[in-house]
Amino acid sequence: METVTTAVALRQHINKWKDAGEKIVFVPTMGNLHAGHLALIKHAHLCGGKIVCSIFVNALQFDREEDLETYPRTPEQDLKVLRDANVDLVFMPVHEEVYTQSDEVEVPNYSLNKEFCGKYRPGFFEGITQVVTRLFRLVTPDVAVFGEKDYQQLVIIKKLVADLDMPIQIEQVATQREDDGLAFSSRNTYLSPEKRRQAPALFSTLRAITQEIQHGRRDYEELENWARKRLTKAGFRPDYVAIRDAHNLEDPSYETDFIIVFAAAWLGEARLIDNMLLRVS
Ligand code: PAF
Repeated sequence: METVTTAVALRQHINKWKDAGEKIVFVPTMGNLHAGHLALIKHAHLCGGKIVCSIFVNALQFDREEDLETYPRTPEQDLKVLRDANVDLVFMPVHEEVYTQSDEVEVPNYSLNKEFCGKYRPGFFEGITQVVTRLFRLVTPDVAVFGEKDYQQLVIIKKLVADLDMPIQIEQVATQREDDGLAFSSRNTYLSPEKRRQAPALFSTLRAITQEIQHGRRDYEELENWARKRLTKAGFRPDYVAIRDAHNLEDPSYETDFIIVFAAAWLGEARLIDNMLLRVS
């Protein structure tokens, strides 16, 4: 496994592989790797070709300076994990390598950027669309792999790639969970032992909603309100609980085939997000 920190060195590897007819499969990360990331890499192996991972804590997607400073950084451990997972190349740039002075990158400003998580984290999706567009330009992948856990991010990135005509296939991988249902996340490290015991209530609440929908309920607003109350009782401070069409995060219609039930809620110092995807037709 090679590790590079500059765009020039990255391009040398990518060009060499592309000249040899290899496919480039990209897994972007912010480091502090866990089982969720390993599932992305496992999926990347199934896609075939050379696997490139990035580790880059993108300052633009943090709305609070404090959150950026305290975001867990474990580069040595991450490199060992990536080596063991047979990744071919790791790109670990500094901020200026991704955000060069001369290059203005125009990305679409979607109204969806300001909804759900975007409403509570101003600038979050604008920061993500900036960095993903820049990383895609640097890595020029054929395939890029993202987790379903960050579902709104996934929907926005699929739209971005289509709107910018980027010839990149977006692959999505199911959320990985602990045995008690809690989704793996770098932010779980902010949970105290007591909060960690309460945390699976987010998963169980979403699961309860999906069961109600599977049993035929379609009063989505009532289900959202019920879930918010249940989470509050379980010790959370919910930002939102939403039930939407899984393709575009709009209100479900009679044409909707997949529904996404998704939520963000604070538990102590940690803001947890989770979701469940279900077929309704
Ligand atoms: O999902 C993440 O880890 C980040 O949002 C991403 C896609 C690497 C962009 O910084």
